[in-house]
Amino acid sequence: MRSDHGDAGDAVLPAAGREGKDSALVQAMFDRVAPRYDVANAVLSLGQDARWRRVTAAAARPEGADVLDVAAGPGNVAAELLGRGARAVTALDLSYEMLRAGARRATPGLTWVNGDALALPFGDATFDAVTISFGLRNTTDPRAALAEFARVLRPGGRLVVCEFADPTWGPFRHVYRRYLLGALPRVAEVVSSDAPAYRYLAESILAWPDRGTLAGWLREAGFEDVRVRDLSGGIVALHRGLRR
Ligand SMILES: C[S@@+](CC[C@H](N)C(=O)[O-])C[C@H]1O[C@@H](n2cnc3c(N)ncnc32)[C@H](O)[C@@H]1O
Repeated sequence: MRSDHGDAGDAVLPAAGREGKDSALVQAMFDRVAPRYDVANAVLSLGQDARWRRVTAAAARPEGADVLDVAAGPGNVAAELLGRGARAVTALDLSYEMLRAGARRATPGLTWVNGDALALPFGDATFDAVTISFGLRNTTDPRAALAEFARVLRPGGRLVVCEFADPTWGPFRHVYRRYLLGALPRVAEVVSSDAPAYRYLAESILAWPDRGTLAGWLREAGFEDVRVRDLSGGIVALHRGLRR
């Protein structure tokens, strides 16, 4: 299979778990994924992904707020935040190609920043809300990233983390895991610009901690009133916390 960057079959994937994940490999993988990112997501999520991002943006209560969308990719959540009345939205991502794909859409009012969730180039207490959708799992140190989100949020500010999770109903969980490891990588061969990245996707979802662990990480990082909401039978979990 060919991608814009050559033979994707030769590409080295980042580690799926948290141990040994290399941010240069994460960045390179998302650079390869960028050209067909939206199409692949829509197909592989059976059209659910747009709703997940809408719910994420709404949970940030963006009306009149200064919002940072971390790991923004091509800016789908960021655009949704603006559409819902945010005063200003900053979309930050490690992958330059993702940002370039988003900037081509020229969403007025969005500020694009090429940067790392683990070292945000903003002062303390800069934002009213921080969102991250399908990004935290890909960082090399999610707990350090959560501490950075707490740092740049004003007291009382909202963090919304949208991430894949394990479906709550046993039989559905079984079918879903078979889909992740079986059909998903095969469909990705057809619809994605980098099919191996979707093998990484499946493995990283299975290696991701459960809801309770993630909620504990939010508390540890300085968030209170942490709430969890399941979407699509628990394929996705939304964690929300308020900066202490
Ligand atoms: C699956 S995409 C999600 C994009 C977008 N939030 C969405 O919902 O469609 C994951 C994104 O996380 C970005 N990413 C991974 N590690 C990052 C880091 N340490 N800092 C900033 N962005 C990161 C990748 O470049 C990629 O664009």
